[in-house]
Amino acid sequence: MQISGRLELSRRHLLIVGAASLAASSVAAPASSATAQTASAPPGAPVMTKVSFDVNGDTHQLELDTRTTLLDALREHLHLTGTKKGCDHGQCGACTVIVDGRRINSCLTLAVMHEGDEITTIEGLGAPDHLHPMQAAFVKHDGYQCGYCTPGQICSAVAVLDEVRSGIPSHVTADLTAPVRLTNAELRERMSGNICRCGAYSNIADAIGEVAGRSA
Ligand code: FES
Ligand code: FES
Repeated sequence: MQISGRLELSRRHLLIVGAASLAASSVAAPASSATAQTASAPPGAPVMTKVSFDVNGDTHQLELDTRTTLLDALREHLHLTGTKKGCDHGQCGACTVIVDGRRINSCLTLAVMHEGDEITTIEGLGAPDHLHPMQAAFVKHDGYQCGYCTPGQICSAVAVLDEVRSGIPSHVTADLTAPVRLTNAELRERMSGNICRCGAYSNIADAIGEVAGRSA
């Protein structure tokens, strides 16, 4: 009896504790569900968002992982592979494009930060049968060897001349026939963010110098 009584008490106690736990968990359930809904995406899962910008005169609407760089958006999503990925760390300038008249390293900026911006890549400056004056000058002066840095060099050079002409960055459609006062030392300093592993610097300077309206 004693043993049976103790067992009976224990069983009743367990039933009471169990019922109390069930009631507590049903009160807490709505809060738990809400938490589960807001945290439904697993850690590290991509967060997608829409962005719209103009590239070389065409408007593009993309849905991107918020972590996508402008460089990857151009190359991987719009297939504009003229813009090159060198270091992907802002050290070489191969990824230079012109955004609202200013040259930037597209590997260092997120695509979603460019809603409504006007972006110009090497493809937007000219075409093989209608080269931009800077592209033509690079060809004329052999301003490249392997060519990997060249799109970034040319975009940067175009923006440099605009910077000097206007005092502030302007758009790439600025008058390229107007001469620019630019010493060789200043030119090299302004272009110092664009690295050429082939060492074509002298020819690059000659090409830019010709477009600037001076002899390098
Ligand atoms: Fe952007 Fe090198 S790839 S600076
Ligand atoms: Fe080869 Fe510049 S031409 S890296």
